[in-house]
Amino acid sequence: MNDDLQRFIDELRTRVSIADVVGAKVKLTKKGREYQGLCPFHNEKTPSFTVNEAKGFYHCFGCGAHGDIVKFEMEANGLPFLDALQKLAHQAGLTMPQFSKKDKEEAEAKKSSYEIMEQACAFFERALKMPEGAEGLNYFQVKRGLSKETIQKFRLGFAPNNNALLAHLKAQNIELQELKELGLIAIPEDTTRRPHDFFRNRVMIPITNKQGKIIAFGGRVMEKIEPKYLNSPDTPIFNKRRNLYNLDKAREAAYKEKKLIICEGYMDVIALDSYGFPYAVAPLGTALTEEQIMEAWKVCPEPTLCLDGDMPGIKAAMRAVDRVLPILKPGYSLKFLFLPDNQDPDEYLKARGAENFAVLLSKTRPLIDILWQKYTEHEDASTPEKKALIEKTLLEETAKIADSVVRCYYTGEIKNRIYHTYKKAAWQNAQPAPIAPRPTPQPTTNAEQAPIPAYTPAPQYKKNTYAPKKFRQPLNHAFSSSPVALTQSLDNENDKNLRFILAAECLYPELIDDYEEQIFLDDFKNPALRDLQTALADTYHDSQTPMSSEDIISALKATPQAPTLKSLWELDMLKEQNPFINDLRTKIDVLLLDNKRTLMEEKIKTLTAELCQNFTTETYNTLAELKKERDELLKTLDKPEE
Ligand code: UTP
Ligand code: MN
Repeated sequence: MNDDLQRFIDELRTRVSIADVVGAKVKLTKKGREYQGLCPFHNEKTPSFTVNEAKGFYHCFGCGAHGDIVKFEMEANGLPFLDALQKLAHQAGLTMPQFSKKDKEEAEAKKSSYEIMEQACAFFERALKMPEGAEGLNYFQVKRGLSKETIQKFRLGFAPNNNALLAHLKAQNIELQELKELGLIAIPEDTTRRPHDFFRNRVMIPITNKQGKIIAFGGRVMEKIEPKYLNSPDTPIFNKRRNLYNLDKAREAAYKEKKLIICEGYMDVIALDSYGFPYAVAPLGTALTEEQIMEAWKVCPEPTLCLDGDMPGIKAAMRAVDRVLPILKPGYSLKFLFLPDNQDPDEYLKARGAENFAVLLSKTRPLIDILWQKYTEHEDASTPEKKALIEKTLLEETAKIADSVVRCYYTGEIKNRIYHTYKKAAWQNAQPAPIAPRPTPQPTTNAEQAPIPAYTPAPQYKKNTYAPKKFRQPLNHAFSSSPVALTQSLDNENDKNLRFILAAECLYPELIDDYEEQIFLDDFKNPALRDLQTALADTYHDSQTPMSSEDIISALKATPQAPTLKSLWELDMLKEQNPFINDLRTKIDVLLLDNKRTLMEEKIKTLTAELCQNFTTETYNTLAELKKERDELLKTLDKPEE
């Protein structure tokens, strides 16, 4: 929904009392914290209709009618959406803003979808408590050991077998087509068959969005049959790749405790909550997606992926590594927890209790361990070629990290591990009298969990008699590849650096001033991007008044650089991330240095090749000079270097 419209409705909700709105139509009496009355939406003699002033909604336990002031005006007084708003605005002493037709239509459509899902949820909850739901209640309470409070908190329910939901919602004039669109009913293609409830004879787990609104359901069979779960299909309000189960309830605890557990199933989340871990979420029947990881990062920078320790769990971890590597950013990652004995968190908690689980939770393994394990465990490293392949694969993986700072650290640490696991040992074997060994860096693995495999010299390795060359690692993965790949990756990297800086300058125009002198346009190759940088600086300096981000973007849209600006997706990304300006400064500093270093490496490589072809003292001296400069720069960058 349009933000302005949503804000306006929220404002109405705080200003206008729901007891007043409902009270004008229904005679209400105060009962404790709530008001009670006869439901205006169905015929009844004893009151089951309640109004909750604090929460701003009405709810009927008889027919499931539920809503806020706007909904009440629409449903009970038959007003169209806008007239309902107008009437309430008048009551609140507010003037109604102008909304576009599309906003209005969208708002109306969305609202009713959520309301329908809410009614379905209330229906399933009620059914669980009725005789027909006895089996479901027994399943939750006896078979799964859930308390009444947990059942209530997670709004667990039961879907009967008699198309009662369809009848219930149809009676409220909701169109079948709409129920189908929300995944609540199925309409068979065979027209001789009648529409029926989508969920039948299952216990029901409602799925909420971040605002706590019901958007889908998971329904579980109670017997041992496969498939166990039936989930709502994707609908206009439900996208299973984007939502995380329980994020609405978990986010506050997650934020406060700086912990978030991502487990595999609904029942795991519910069990974790009832054992005192309210910060648990789960993907919705698919493997964890990038979108879900980014959602999780909004409440906790390092969520713990909790998986079973057997093959499927390990595979899931590997998939998560593939998903997360490209989107890693400084400070944000995933941690891994593997449960023993093929148990899921629900089973583990029941068998070993909360305390043991808490211990495991404090001993997670970092992402880099899993990455390392993924490409080294069970890998044959018996020959130099095979070792080289492992190194190449690992470095190809770290090259996928889009963030250059994180990538730099990952590459460094992986090179360290390769050195200590494969190279150092091989080299020492070949060396009759090794030079004093370098201190081994502390591995980051948790000793209690599967350790990094130690290097065992391959038995067929023969000591050679050549004096080994001083071991020197390539500075950048890119340089170990072919010349074609070299230029390609350089250009990409080079473009990417300037693109990021340009986006940052568009977001914070004061950065233009800070960096103008440091950005040597010669250091960047892409002419379109260079033009944009020039236009940006010109626009900024030509303006008589200080320019905001919006100012400078709209000014640039009128220049020939508009298409380049438009292609700068990094700008949208930064707007979304909304980073502090100082964080951007730090990052740009690193980018500029890194860029310079890369260019130097490129030049060194060309000169070296030249020297091989045609040795001149001049080239030799230039090269020596350049290398010295590069080494100086490396000291500034303080890169992990072997
Ligand atoms: P699991 O098979 O691990 O089941 O599926 P579970 O969560 O332990 O369920 P219980 O304890 O037997 O009740 C993990 C998740 O995968 C999805 C569901 O989201 C489930 O919570 N799933 C599983 C399905 O969508 N369909 C299935 O048939 C099975
Ligand atoms: Mn389970």
